[in-house]
Amino acid sequence: MRFSVITIFPEFFESPLSCGLLSKAREKGLVEFSFINPRDHSTDRHHNVDDRPYGGGPGMVMAVDPLRRAISTLGPKARILMLSPKGRPLTQALARELAGEEELALLCGRYEGFDARLEELCPIEAVSVGDFVLNGGETGALCLIEAVGRLIPDFMGKDESADEESFSTGFLEYPHYTRPEEYEGLKVPEVLSSGHHGRIAQWRREQSLETTLRMRPDILANAPLTDADIKYLKALDRVRPGRNLHVALVHYPVENKSGQTITTSLTNLDLHDIARVSCTYGLGGYYICTPVVDQQTLARTLVGHWREGYGLTANPDRSEALGRVRVVSLLDDAVADIAARTGRRPKVLATSAKAGNMTCEQAARWLRDEPVLLVLGTGHGLRPEVLEGADGMLRAIRFMDRYNHLSVRSAASIMVDRLLGDVG
Ligand SMILES: C[S@@+](CC[C@H](N)C(=O)[O-])C[C@H]1O[C@@H](n2cnc3c(N)ncnc32)[C@H](O)[C@@H]1O
Repeated sequence: MRFSVITIFPEFFESPLSCGLLSKAREKGLVEFSFINPRDHSTDRHHNVDDRPYGGGPGMVMAVDPLRRAISTLGPKARILMLSPKGRPLTQALARELAGEEELALLCGRYEGFDARLEELCPIEAVSVGDFVLNGGETGALCLIEAVGRLIPDFMGKDESADEESFSTGFLEYPHYTRPEEYEGLKVPEVLSSGHHGRIAQWRREQSLETTLRMRPDILANAPLTDADIKYLKALDRVRPGRNLHVALVHYPVENKSGQTITTSLTNLDLHDIARVSCTYGLGGYYICTPVVDQQTLARTLVGHWREGYGLTANPDRSEALGRVRVVSLLDDAVADIAARTGRRPKVLATSAKAGNMTCEQAARWLRDEPVLLVLGTGHGLRPEVLEGADGMLRAIRFMDRYNHLSVRSAASIMVDRLLGDVG
């Protein structure tokens, strides 16, 4: 494979490409490198490649012409990649895809980046090495060269080494050990010295699953799991992430469609469905808030039906879910109950289909170490005084769209899932 690096700092690559496996791969002729310096293609008398940005602002911009000329020297088969924070994330899957190419051209930016017209004029794909900003594309290009290079056949001593590594299987890798067998009282897991290949393979698989669940649950969500993996994950006694989250369904004070303050009636569907969500996600509690005594009695009767007698024997799962329900008069009572049970006043997180600008990530930060009460309104939504009195207001679901009128039950499910960033 040929890497053609377009950079104003070719010397940057000297040391990294002359040691370790990359240098061996060069010697074996598996990879070759060429460097194209845009300065050599600048028609400017000082070989400048940058200029001031239109519209003002700090920093310089890499001019389009020298880069376009540099690109025109590439072979016809070159796939041109531009290192850029806005690009497609460099993943193991992308590295694998790129390892099948004959030539990769890597465009390294400096300053504020490139004149935008370059991408309009040349067939360029932007690639990012992460959500951070580097001084220049050279370090990113080196990451890409290593990640892609090591997937080329014969690059590594044993080709299979790449197959078992992190991300190749869809998981993070299991832990490794070498001699001594015991160090500072820490022993190498016995199974690894058993010589039993089947047990070792199983132990490694399980360790991979646990590490991935602990460190990167996001990738576990898309990992290819076998039935045995799912059984293993289910059996893990892991901490339920939802217990700091509580939900309140408010029936007063809410608005009707003319903006008047009203009290709504309880619905059996809301009672059941949000209770089931609360149970599924392991929430701390689900509060039905209504000041109407008849409605409170109705809620308790409905819960009682499933918690005792025939309902309990007919459907014990439903009983478990409805056990989360607490009937209170006002939102303040829910707040006080959580404070009494947890020892901390919860952060009140209000919701509306029309307003709110707190992201789920910000709210999830609260959830890490304090109780949070997610407040949902019935009717046409919570009264402004409830929204204003809250510690935060979650951004509406589908806030960019014209229509986002969900039932409160659906909204509760989506919000809980987003807040807990659940993986499965
Ligand atoms: C200082 S950065 C420019 C950042 C640019 N103004 C922005 O905010 O997106 C200069 C160059 O470094 C490279 N670079 C910086 N961060 C990168 C990243 N995360 N992935 C890939 N390339 C990056 C790009 O080639 C970029 O043109």
